[in-house]
Amino acid sequence: MERTHHKQEINITETLINRINELISYYPEDKRKSALLPVLHEVQDAHDNWLSIELMDKVAEIIQIKPIEVYEVVSFYTMYNQRPIGKYMFEFCQTSPCCLNGVEDLMDYTCEKLGIKVGEPTADGLFEVRGVECLGACGYAPMMQLGDFYKEHLTKEKVDQLIEDCKDGKIVLLDK
Ligand code: FES
Repeated sequence: MERTHHKQEINITETLINRINELISYYPEDKRKSALLPVLHEVQDAHDNWLSIELMDKVAEIIQIKPIEVYEVVSFYTMYNQRPIGKYMFEFCQTSPCCLNGVEDLMDYTCEKLGIKVGEPTADGLFEVRGVECLGACGYAPMMQLGDFYKEHLTKEKVDQLIEDCKDGKIVLLDK
């Protein structure tokens, strides 16, 4: 479990609790835990894209499961964040087909351009780079996920353009 010194304001609004209850209602009463993944997505989206221990505890309380059951899921999947992350998270696929098509070079290039290391946000909190497992778009290698979207057949020029578009606020992160 990643520990963080960052404080998070917990804000479970009426709209959010209604959405959580809707997700839980899709499953039998004794299988409330089945709603955990979609509930975590909703809660994370409503909390600046990360989940503190206190927030995970709150999710456990709402779903009526043990906190450890939430920690296990959050620490397993890269789509859940245990600390504040850069607003624009460049998630490069690091599995073989993307590696064979130069993704490592692109990651190095991106980090150098942004002046960061993998797993560290830029000082202004705008960007971060991380490596993830296969995103199921191997035919479009090398590729990455940015928010809810895939960016495919990447080149250095495309990375340059994406960085500029993010800075200019032209990139939409959520498919909502
Ligand atoms: S190997 Fe990169 S998307 Fe599958």
